[in-house]
Amino acid sequence: MSIIIKDQAGIEAMRLACRLASEVLDYLDPHIKAGTTTRQIDELARGYMAQQGTVSATLNYQPPGYPPYPASLCTSLNHVVCHGIPNDKPLKKGDIMNIDVTVIKDGWYGDNSRMYVIGDASIAAKRLCALTFDAMWLGILQVKPGNHFGDIGHAIQKFAEGHGLSVVREFCGHGVGQNFHEEPQVLHYGRPGTHEQLKPGMIFTIEPMLNLGRKEVKELGNDGWTIVTKDHSLSAQWEHTVLVTETGYEVLTLSEGSPALPAFVQAVKT
Ligand code: MF3
Ligand code: CO
Ligand code: CO
Repeated sequence: MSIIIKDQAGIEAMRLACRLASEVLDYLDPHIKAGTTTRQIDELARGYMAQQGTVSATLNYQPPGYPPYPASLCTSLNHVVCHGIPNDKPLKKGDIMNIDVTVIKDGWYGDNSRMYVIGDASIAAKRLCALTFDAMWLGILQVKPGNHFGDIGHAIQKFAEGHGLSVVREFCGHGVGQNFHEEPQVLHYGRPGTHEQLKPGMIFTIEPMLNLGRKEVKELGNDGWTIVTKDHSLSAQWEHTVLVTETGYEVLTLSEGSPALPAFVQAVKT
């Protein structure tokens, strides 16, 4: 087993699948507000994917040892770290929520997630969301041929812990292409120069989960999927799918509604 290098046709197919995954989040944007239920959001997404000609990769997704995942996206609210299942509880002012969307287009997978602040949240909650966004981008900035996967993890961990946040260890980024999850595992912590070297044509996600409190997580325990922080502290996550180019990176999961890049990224690009 090894990391798949995508050819030009695969890269083009991934550009499309990933842009469509990002456009699902754009479409949902105005609907993410107090009073809406996560099940309504899931239904809206399912309808939009049908219009796009995509299918959800998460609906009925069943890795070994799991029950089939029952929804078209994941909604992870407040202390839910990941894999939250949409339900009939209305969102309320002050909630923070991650929506994670993976679509399949022509057999290729585009995977991305964003944080949403419902109404206005506490300073601490908004800071967690913003710092997690920056942490993801600091990881992305490490993507270039010759760098190692450990460089990505290290950049994220150093920044997160430097701001008093903790990095979830149990879930990581992953290679993605004609499979939802393929090699390698992209850890969000680690040491520079460790793990495999990045090569042009590799495509993988970077999706750090950062907690306001301790790093430990546990299963909620009644649905086989939902992961929460052990200490019930807030958790945030952002996710992009990224291509290694000859000179650096191309973020594939960008679209018109993507949030503005952090200032330190624009500074690097111009
Ligand atoms: N989209 C998630 C990821 O980033 C995986 C969700 S699996 C599900 O890898 F079944 F919970 F939807
Ligand atoms: Co992913
Ligand atoms: Co995802």
